[in-house]
Amino acid sequence: MTNLKQKGKTMKTQPPSAAGSSKAAKIGQNAASDAENKHPIGKIQFVKRAQVFFRQNWVEVDKSDFHFNLKKIKEYLAKDTKIMPVIKANAYGHGGIALAKEAQKAGVACIGVSSLEEGISFREAGIKSPILVLSNVFPLENLQVAVAHSLTPTISNMAGIMALEDLAVRLSKKLNFHLEIDTGMGRIGALPEAAYQILQKIAQTPEITMTGMYTHFAVADTDPVFTQTQLDAFLKVVKFARAALGLKFTAHAANSAALFRNKRTHLDMVRPGISLYGLSPFKYAERFVKLKPVLSWKSRITFLKRVPSGFCVSYGRTFVTNRASVIATIPVGYADGYNRLLSNQGDVLVRGKRCPIAGRVTMDMTMIDVTGVKGVSLGDEVVLIGSQGKEQIKADELAKMQDTINYEITCAISPRVPRIVV
Ligand SMILES: Cc1ncc(COP(=O)(O)O)c(C=O)c1O
Repeated sequence: MTNLKQKGKTMKTQPPSAAGSSKAAKIGQNAASDAENKHPIGKIQFVKRAQVFFRQNWVEVDKSDFHFNLKKIKEYLAKDTKIMPVIKANAYGHGGIALAKEAQKAGVACIGVSSLEEGISFREAGIKSPILVLSNVFPLENLQVAVAHSLTPTISNMAGIMALEDLAVRLSKKLNFHLEIDTGMGRIGALPEAAYQILQKIAQTPEITMTGMYTHFAVADTDPVFTQTQLDAFLKVVKFARAALGLKFTAHAANSAALFRNKRTHLDMVRPGISLYGLSPFKYAERFVKLKPVLSWKSRITFLKRVPSGFCVSYGRTFVTNRASVIATIPVGYADGYNRLLSNQGDVLVRGKRCPIAGRVTMDMTMIDVTGVKGVSLGDEVVLIGSQGKEQIKADELAKMQDTINYEITCAISPRVPRIVV
């Protein structure tokens, strides 16, 4: 133990693991008892291999908060409206497999992913729920990969229908798919005018079954009028498929914003993503349903020093102390997804107090100004996103500083940061 004097007081510094917090205290080497903490080498053998990490930089994913959000969304829907949690892009950075397992436990109708790779990883992890791939399969030969792993592909045009029909004939197997209609997103999907011919072909092709038809809203968070125009265009195609062609399928359209703002978008199934993770799809979303952020991003102080006034910190020497200061280093950098735009801008939490980022965020380490944090010590938990004491840093706060959306903040947390389900 070393001593660090600050403003006439003595600060005691401890080994990193000694300053644990509630759930985090159970993680990695911090699971060790106080006695073990005195002898760091001896701790590792008591920890499950999968949970060992040494870098003091991790994400905690609270599965009970995920279930809480799922329940709140369910309560917002009519009884027979199904839910397809969108667990793509590694569950918006939260950890895809772990949350897909939780979604399955909750008995969701289907899980949405963005790629064949994500779907395959879920299957390999033992997930049995129906899985819809929410992007187009390219090249079309890859449809057989979807079929081999029981993943439902999205089809967006006649070429896709023909390729799926060919595959069904070759495999002598009825194949399911969802058809996407582009009513104004302009991404993938058949335009409504092209959809009529495609639907006629589908109705005449018994080898393939359209189990779902969907569209995606472009401005559900900001523009209810355009969203209604998209919904109307979609409903017209749905009506044609059902009334004129007698097709039976699940119709779905609503992302989180649409789900909250317009109940008419719910149809047979909704596709919430961001709201399941407890993040707001638009500014006042909490007025509709109060959700709990599922993700916290944490680190620990791994280096601590007193510096004089006029001392420069980090690349570019952009931060200069204007008083005798205490500067801490945390093992978090832009290679972890902690954006360089947060340099000299962002805050983190230490002992329940906001502490500013001092100087530039570097690739693997960032410095923080902890002057004035009473009792600050080596090993203190640092919260980058989440709560500590009465303070909270939301992904939205970081998003604002980076001129982006909360979605990108959690998605950007790099795979090298361990995700721990608590
Ligand atoms: C096709 C599709 N549906 C649903 C969602 C979920 O959207 P949100 O996260 O806004 O709820 C997404 C997300 O991008 C998507 O691409």
